[in-house]
Amino acid sequence: MGSMPPDNLPLRAPSRRADPASSPRDPARARALRELRAGLTSRPRTLPSKYFYDAAGSALFERITALPEYYLTRAEDALLRRRAPEIAASTEAQELVELGAGAATKTRRLLDALREQGTLQRYVPVDVDATMIARVEQDLAVLYPGLRVDGVAADFIAEPLKMPGLGWRLVALLGSTLGNFAGSQATQLLSALRPVMGPNGRLLLGVDLVKDEAVLHAAYNDAAGVTAAFNRNLLRVVNRRFGANFDPDAFAHLASWNRRARRVEMHLVSREAQKVEIASLGLTLSLRKGERLRTEVSCKYTRRSLQRLLGRAGLTIQRWMPAEDGSFALALIARV
Ligand code: SAH
Ligand code: TRP
Repeated sequence: MGSMPPDNLPLRAPSRRADPASSPRDPARARALRELRAGLTSRPRTLPSKYFYDAAGSALFERITALPEYYLTRAEDALLRRRAPEIAASTEAQELVELGAGAATKTRRLLDALREQGTLQRYVPVDVDATMIARVEQDLAVLYPGLRVDGVAADFIAEPLKMPGLGWRLVALLGSTLGNFAGSQATQLLSALRPVMGPNGRLLLGVDLVKDEAVLHAAYNDAAGVTAAFNRNLLRVVNRRFGANFDPDAFAHLASWNRRARRVEMHLVSREAQKVEIASLGLTLSLRKGERLRTEVSCKYTRRSLQRLLGRAGLTIQRWMPAEDGSFALALIARV
């Protein structure tokens, strides 16, 4: 491995702070307030989905990943187990940078293969939930002694990562998290990842594929109601951060398939006519009975639709690794 780049890459994101500070002059706080206001006053009304993931939300999401209806995590884990050795061999990565790492459980398949091969020096999990980053750092220190783990608690949309890659870096975006960014936001995110990959680096995407509507419906409307609880938890986070008085019980969970846009859309539906105050915005929201707040989109892809999206960001599929049942795919991506 004599041709590998030196181990001097700047790996600190600009800020480890995920929480906007309380000062109204703090630029991150000002941006968060603008974003919240823009979403709540637009049609359809939307709420920023990054607020799903406080400590309670991350714990609920981990329960989602174990639900019988939520096939995504199992499908991706099986693919990673099978494909990690060839992914490691074709990237020779020294560093793994993972966006939206969460608990980084599936990531261990990649870490195992990269360690086995002897190239891996550093793992950089990036997540907006700082408590999750701390936990991953602790867990991995025990599981992978000698591996450098540099966690970054940051919003990778608001503060694009400033860690240029020199070559042998693997950037991972798993769990179909790409699908939670629609249209131009997805293109922007992918374009911002190009410099992070570096000239010879690769991006590993885990993407959910277009399939039967009933399967999708069940995955986002589980019988035990965990997804509904996860969706409502967003209101608790917004209450806490922005002095709002949303009553989570006054909203019903609704996940519906938008056939034309090929995405599942998550909503909270107002059960009655109600007023909600958002103190930090000085805003009173009047909601009609049945009015929806959209909290998340989850885009589903085909190989062609993904290739089209990547093309707009100067990226291309190098290796396409679908599950045998066609439910999910891993895609290894290179710069054009
Ligand atoms: N990779 C894990 C978790 C996916 S859930 C898995 O596949 O199971 C999405 C993760 O992305 C959450 O942990 C959430 O906290 C994080 N996330 C969502 N939006 C983010 C943003 N804008 N910046 C940083 N992290 C974000
Ligand atoms: N990336 C996951 C997905 O699109 C996130 C997710 C799973 C999610 N279940 C959810 C987001 C329920 C909001 C609500 O599948």
